[in-house]
Amino acid sequence: MKLADKDFELFRDYIYNLCGIYFHASKKYFLESRLARRMEETGITSHADYYKLLKGGAGGAQELKRLLDEVTTNETCFFRNVPQLTALENKLLPELVEVKGKIGFRKLRIWSAGSSSGEEAYTMAMILLEKRQTLLKDWIIEIVGTDINETVLAMAREGVYNSYSVRNTPEFFRKKYFKQESTEKFILSPDVKKLVTFTHLNLYDDTKMIFMKSFDFIFCANVLIYFDTASKSKVVQHFYNNLQPYGYFFVGQSESLHGVNDSFKTIHFPGGFAYKK
Ligand SMILES: C[S@@+](CC[C@H](N)C(=O)[O-])C[C@H]1O[C@@H](n2cnc3c(N)ncnc32)[C@H](O)[C@@H]1O
Repeated sequence: MKLADKDFELFRDYIYNLCGIYFHASKKYFLESRLARRMEETGITSHADYYKLLKGGAGGAQELKRLLDEVTTNETCFFRNVPQLTALENKLLPELVEVKGKIGFRKLRIWSAGSSSGEEAYTMAMILLEKRQTLLKDWIIEIVGTDINETVLAMAREGVYNSYSVRNTPEFFRKKYFKQESTEKFILSPDVKKLVTFTHLNLYDDTKMIFMKSFDFIFCANVLIYFDTASKSKVVQHFYNNLQPYGYFFVGQSESLHGVNDSFKTIHFPGGFAYKK
């Protein structure tokens, strides 16, 4: 069903105020098609009635989750940003371990914010597992993956992937940490799964964000590209507050905090950069 301009604005503002994702006018067709899917499923025939359901009709909260599952983009894969991972493994992690080791605090906390189906968080888990006998001997490792989309969180917890997800995974990691059951079924090792906890979290929810404390590495890659400048600034300020003084904040390869936050310092490394307080 065609989405009238005024209805587009109504749904656009509703979604924006709820989770920070902003649909420009050029994305109207996208919102229209996702609403159409949900309306077909629920048997609702007008945009006005569907809006009423979201705003407090019986089952509205459940339907809202389903709509958010439809309007979020969840593209991801293991080992997505290799220059970032190389710098982390060879430089940023050893430096951080030295600083924390000196004060006797042998615990690492890592957050994959907008984790989608878990590939980013599990990539970190595999890299850190490789350091367990050396640099991270006797360290406690906590990795948290959060997302607003319940469907991808369930996939993350399950830990079963297809060939597209593992396409960039180096053979060493693929052989060691996955059991390949068929050309399309890669089952992640329980040792990797054990290191990561997945939780539902809306990054735009201030009341929840203030509790995400004391992280050494925060990844929020390819999430804020769907936000506008004001909603990016609000969320990034939480990342700033929740990052340890010696920690690092990472965004996606094509993203930057230019015009969003000027408190972070940029740290350059070959092929990329990270942010630091
Ligand atoms: C494109 S994926 C990025 C996955 C991974 N970080 C990566 O770079 O490969 C973006 C994820 O951000 C999530 N997301 C979008 N808005 C969000 C919000 N307000 N709170 C939490 N997660 C959100 C989406 O559900 C989606 O799974």
